[in-house]
Amino acid sequence: MATVIDGKAVAQTIRSEIADEVHFLSQKYGKVPGLAVVIVGHRKDSQSYVGMKRKACAELGINSFDVDLPEQVSQAELIKQVHELNANPDVHGILVQLPLPKHINEETVLTEISLEKDVDGFHPLNIGKLAMKGRDPLFLPCTPKACLELLQRSGVTIKGKRAVVVGRSNIVGLPASLLLLKADATVTTVHSHTSQPESIIREADIVIAAAGQPKMIKGSWIKPGAAVIDVGTNAVDDPTRKSGYRLVGDVDFEEASKTAGWITPVPGGVGPMTVTMLLKNTLEGAKRYIE
Ligand code: GUN
Repeated sequence: MATVIDGKAVAQTIRSEIADEVHFLSQKYGKVPGLAVVIVGHRKDSQSYVGMKRKACAELGINSFDVDLPEQVSQAELIKQVHELNANPDVHGILVQLPLPKHINEETVLTEISLEKDVDGFHPLNIGKLAMKGRDPLFLPCTPKACLELLQRSGVTIKGKRAVVVGRSNIVGLPASLLLLKADATVTTVHSHTSQPESIIREADIVIAAAGQPKMIKGSWIKPGAAVIDVGTNAVDDPTRKSGYRLVGDVDFEEASKTAGWITPVPGGVGPMTVTMLLKNTLEGAKRYIE
């Protein structure tokens, strides 16, 4: 049976490390790290993610700057707000929650965030540096960083191993592949046009699943002893729950946990770590600025 990686516990450990450093910075320099979280419109999922990020800031003593803009806000007004945050010396990280409404070009907006405050790591220059050998981005995207942190803290060797990333989104799959490559894994990306993904996944020592397809990856696809990191958070109907739904990953956990060496659960795996990596990036940004 696989070792189940407890993302909540690892996140808690890292959060207390961050809280200690935040306290130290304010004692030594009288400066408190600050994160601006910008949200446009009222998407329920985005509101819930943003709420978690702001709450986590408060818990760790990080200042949170809340910018809530209406669905109809113009791209020019949104960029003006980003520029103001770029110029604010108390703000060390800026996050614009995605997706943005259709009339706004996401890449244009993300490119306006100061590189030194790009705590999501989504600025094309940061992603470009992630893709290049010998260059380091100022910030790593939070979910891929969370996946690697979970592997490393669980004692999984990455160097020289075969890794398969399922999915190639700009937010998770693509940067996760690049990050594993930087960590010297041999990386294959599986996506919606890959034929027979199961035969590729069966060769993987490390699987990062970020396809957004509930239980797509079956137990029989997992190489014995592999490390399986499940980024999927798919809501499926469950009439036995008060909410009417429950969250399942991209991996069939019951089956895969019989074969894998390590596996993350959903919920309680990558999820709690993603927000933690955002806080860690904010702290790193503040330290670069203050120290
Ligand atoms: N939407 C879904 N995930 C993310 C994330 O990690 N950062 C931002 N900014 N938006 C998202």
